[in-house]
Amino acid sequence: MKMGDLRLRPVRESDLDWLDRYTFDEDFLGQDTWSGFTGTQNQRRRFAETGFLTASDGRLVIDLADTGPIGIVLWYRKFYGPNEAAFCWGIGISLWPEHRGRGHGSAAQRLLADYLFAHSTVRRIEADTLPENIAEQRALEKAGFQRDGVFRGAWFLRGRWRDCVVYSLLRGES
Ligand SMILES: CC(C)(COP(=O)(O)OP(=O)(O)OC[C@H]1O[C@@H](n2cnc3c(N)ncnc32)[C@H](O)[C@@H]1OP(=O)(O)O)[C@@H](O)C(=O)NCCC(=O)NCCS
Repeated sequence: MKMGDLRLRPVRESDLDWLDRYTFDEDFLGQDTWSGFTGTQNQRRRFAETGFLTASDGRLVIDLADTGPIGIVLWYRKFYGPNEAAFCWGIGISLWPEHRGRGHGSAAQRLLADYLFAHSTVRRIEADTLPENIAEQRALEKAGFQRDGVFRGAWFLRGRWRDCVVYSLLRGES
C-alpha cells in the first residue's frame, strides 16, 4: 500500500532491533500508549511464527521513501454484540518521535484503513486514544475518521483508569 512517499510493508528481520525498543522505551512508543515492559522474546517468537500477520491481528511497518522505517501500524479484532463473525478492526499507530507532526500519522492510518477494507470484509475500523492526545485525534479526523464518543474509565494506564475517545471509519465513508 502506498500514498505519496509513504508505504506500508510487512515486518522484516532487519526491523526487529528497532521494534524491540517498543518493548522497553516508553518515549519511543509514545507515553500515551506505553503500558509497561513486555520483553523482546515474545516479539521475536511472534515474528518467527507469523511475521506479525495472522487472521486476527497484524502489524505493518510505515516506510518513508529515501528514509526507511518511521514507525508501525497494527490492527486487532474487536467484538461488539453476540456474533463473533461480525467483528470490527481496532487499529493503533506509533511513529518514531522525530517523524511526528509532519502528517505521516494521518496518511499511515488512512493507508491502513484502505488496506483493511480491501483485504477483509469488515464494515467498521475503530481507533481509540486518550482525550489529551490531540495529535492522534486530529490525525484520525484528517484520515476521515469520525468521533463516536468517550468510553469512560476504559483504559488502565500508569496506575489509573482513564477515559478514552473512540473514532471510527465505516466502509464507503471517504
Ligand atoms: C499520534 C500520532 C500517530 C499522530 O501522527 P502525526 O504524524 O504526529 O500527526 P499529523 O502530523 O498527521 O497530524 C497531527 C495534527 O494534530 C495537530 N497537533 C499535534 N499536536 C497537537 C497539540 N498538542 N494540540 C493541538 N493540535 C496538535 C497538528 O497540528 C496536526 O494538525 P494540522 O495538520 O491540522 O495542523 C504520532 O504523533 C505518534 O505516533 N505519537 C505517539 C504514539 C501515539 O500517540 N499513538 C496513537 C495513540 S494511541
